[in-house]
Amino acid sequence: MDALVRTEGLYLAFGGVIAADGIDFHLEEGERLAVIGQNGSGKTTFINICTGFLKPTRGKVYFEGRDITRMGPRHIVRLGMARSFQLPQLFLDHSVRQCLEISAAARSGRLSFFAELGRSVDSREIDHALELVGLRERANEPSSSLPEGQRKLLDVAMALMLNPKLLIIDEPTSGVASEDKHGLMATLMRALEERKVTSWFVEHDVDIVSRYASRVVAWTNGKVVADGPPAEVLESEVVRREILGTA
Ligand SMILES: Nc1ncnc2c1ncn2[C@@H]1O[C@H](COP(=O)(O)OP(=O)(O)O)[C@@H](O)[C@H]1O
Ligand SMILES: [Mg+2]
Repeated sequence: MDALVRTEGLYLAFGGVIAADGIDFHLEEGERLAVIGQNGSGKTTFINICTGFLKPTRGKVYFEGRDITRMGPRHIVRLGMARSFQLPQLFLDHSVRQCLEISAAARSGRLSFFAELGRSVDSREIDHALELVGLRERANEPSSSLPEGQRKLLDVAMALMLNPKLLIIDEPTSGVASEDKHGLMATLMRALEERKVTSWFVEHDVDIVSRYASRVVAWTNGKVVADGPPAEVLESEVVRREILGTA
């Protein structure tokens, strides 16, 4: 069986900064991967390379064994690797329900999807997606009225409309009040589990990581420095010294 995602020797520098320094990585179906690392360590760059937004100078990315290194983001999404949208400005004027309709229409690749809103999409599918992330009550409100946590859930629901095998979420709890983080993650992980979607999220909060991840990968300077079960990685010398500052 091929890994869901596998990379070999990914390398990319921005001027003098080596953002990806020979990354060998794999992700298996069904994992809940948390990526930790200080700001600037290359976590987002790695996501951008895997999802086709950046091209590495060296190395390869495979999705289910297929070489996707030179493919564009839209092609990669269709293969089943999605990342949550950062809810573009465009969507803020639309209702929560309309955002999901737009996403579902975009899935079929129609460019005139605005004209067809509501007509081309199965409303039960939208209701189910709203239910899944607990946004049914807010379906008709403008998405701009949602608090940050619910906006992230809408983001995720929109990405799930694309029926991905893998969803990558960069810092789902950033900007969310600490008392709301666990509720957000619980809803999010339940939704992904119900849809049998493998997850990969970047997260700084150690409690969240230990509670929701099945595996943790730690980054410094464009490299993986620890990889394993949460307890092992979070207790490791290198992570305590370089990332958590608790050594
Ligand atoms: N488009 C870019 N142009 C120039 N430098 C970049 C660009 N994207 C990221 N970098 C640099 O690459 C390094 C890794 O950034 P990033 O992947 O965003 O880190 P992280 O997500 O871990 O905070 C940083 O030093 C950052 O300043
Ligand atoms: Mg980042």
